[in-house]
Amino acid sequence: MKKSLREKIRLWKSLYANAFENATNALPRIGGVLLAYNTNIDAIKYLDGKDLEGRIEKVGKNRIFELIENPPERITSLEELFAGILRSIKLGKAMEWFVESKEVSDYLRKWGWDELRIGGQAGIMANLLGGVYRVPTIVHVPQNPKLQAELFVDGPIYVPVFEEGKFKLVHPREAVKENEEELIHYIFEFPRGFQVFNIAAPRENRFIANADEYNARVHMRNEFREHFNDVVKNVDLAIISGLHVLKESYETYKDVLNEVDAQLDVLNERNIRSHFEFAYTANRKVRRALINLLSKFTSVGLNEVELASLMQIIGDEELAREVLEGHVFSVIDAMHLLMDETGIQRIHFHTYGYYMALTQYKNEKVRDALLFAALAAAAKAMYGNVESLSQIRDALSVPTSERAFLIEEELGREFGEAENGVIDLGDRQLTFIPAKIVTSPKSTVGIGDTISSSAFVSEFAMFLSP
Ligand code: AMP
Ligand code: GLC
Repeated sequence: MKKSLREKIRLWKSLYANAFENATNALPRIGGVLLAYNTNIDAIKYLDGKDLEGRIEKVGKNRIFELIENPPERITSLEELFAGILRSIKLGKAMEWFVESKEVSDYLRKWGWDELRIGGQAGIMANLLGGVYRVPTIVHVPQNPKLQAELFVDGPIYVPVFEEGKFKLVHPREAVKENEEELIHYIFEFPRGFQVFNIAAPRENRFIANADEYNARVHMRNEFREHFNDVVKNVDLAIISGLHVLKESYETYKDVLNEVDAQLDVLNERNIRSHFEFAYTANRKVRRALINLLSKFTSVGLNEVELASLMQIIGDEELAREVLEGHVFSVIDAMHLLMDETGIQRIHFHTYGYYMALTQYKNEKVRDALLFAALAAAAKAMYGNVESLSQIRDALSVPTSERAFLIEEELGREFGEAENGVIDLGDRQLTFIPAKIVTSPKSTVGIGDTISSSAFVSEFAMFLSP
């Protein structure tokens, strides 16, 4: 029998509350998680329309407006910097361009920031998993200057060091290297409706000016590389990210992927489950190479833009377009295709309003993990920085996306009524959850990382018996 909207709201409310309990009770069962490779400093600036207009007028409005339509995708001048910011606002899209000019880096540093946070997928996940979930976490830091080390919160967060012939794990603050570089990513956040000149943002989002040459090459620290065997003795899970920046022009892109491949072999020999956090990968050859690498992972996390970009390689342009437009059945087809191609056990897709997982195993814990992740995401949207489990519990009161209930009905018509979000597809399970949506988020950067890491880690924790 078809459920009324009120019944649906009530059902998901109780599933959410149970999932929070189940996930938080299980998290302490995890021995350790490895997070590699990208950590940096995020310098967050909440844009001010008048200030931005003044700066644009000064640099030259006409030229900047021309560049908005012909995006250079990298920053070699102030004109290109502002064109990037305006383009991101105009489309309401997240964009990230590399800064390739000392003049622009100096300008950005002088312009300043409202807030500094740890950045990079690995860095963000470390503060969440170690700082909030209290799961022992080993994080890779390409550089460890004081400014960055101080952004790691208290908790069981460690970097490997090798001193006097001994391997040790210490908090990043205890391993500061004064002479190492500050890898700063300038993040310009804007709310929905944000206005500059005649441009208004259709939705909240951010533009990133990335002034960092280390993560761009996926620089691996020696201690980490040479003592990888010691590092992994301390973990039962690994989350890998940061490979999306690789370019064909770097002679080293294949070397980097070979090194990662070898590290994955070590993880697999030890039965350490691994998750790859996808991020938009501009270069098609690198994208293809990453798809090939997926067969060595247990799990992958991606959003609609990333899934569509993979369909351009292993599907076709039409499927890619449909995924981008948000057709739920095309998303499901794409997930199946990716699973067929790679043999990966778990694919976690997230988009505004709902998440889905396709797994080669069947269990309601997959759903509870997605629900817990949606609470963490809502807390991240509300507070910017998640600092405690009680903030995540607060997110239970954020409304659940009603648009997602309509999608749930479509799924019900196709597959038969789902058992509380869990659909048995014979050899695979499809799990669907309506997410929580915060109407006026404080910031948007890092929500995707929060979703993927919370779901992967809590699912695994719930599978470990008490
Ligand atoms: P990504 O695109 O990987 O950075 O992840 C962004 C994800 O964050 C989206 O797919 C949404 O699921 C989630 N998200 C974005 N905005 C909000 C919001 N206002 N409230 C809750 N979740 C959000
Ligand atoms: C990218 C950005 C980094 C940001 C992260 C959030 O890695 O370079 O600055 O913290 O995305 O997901």
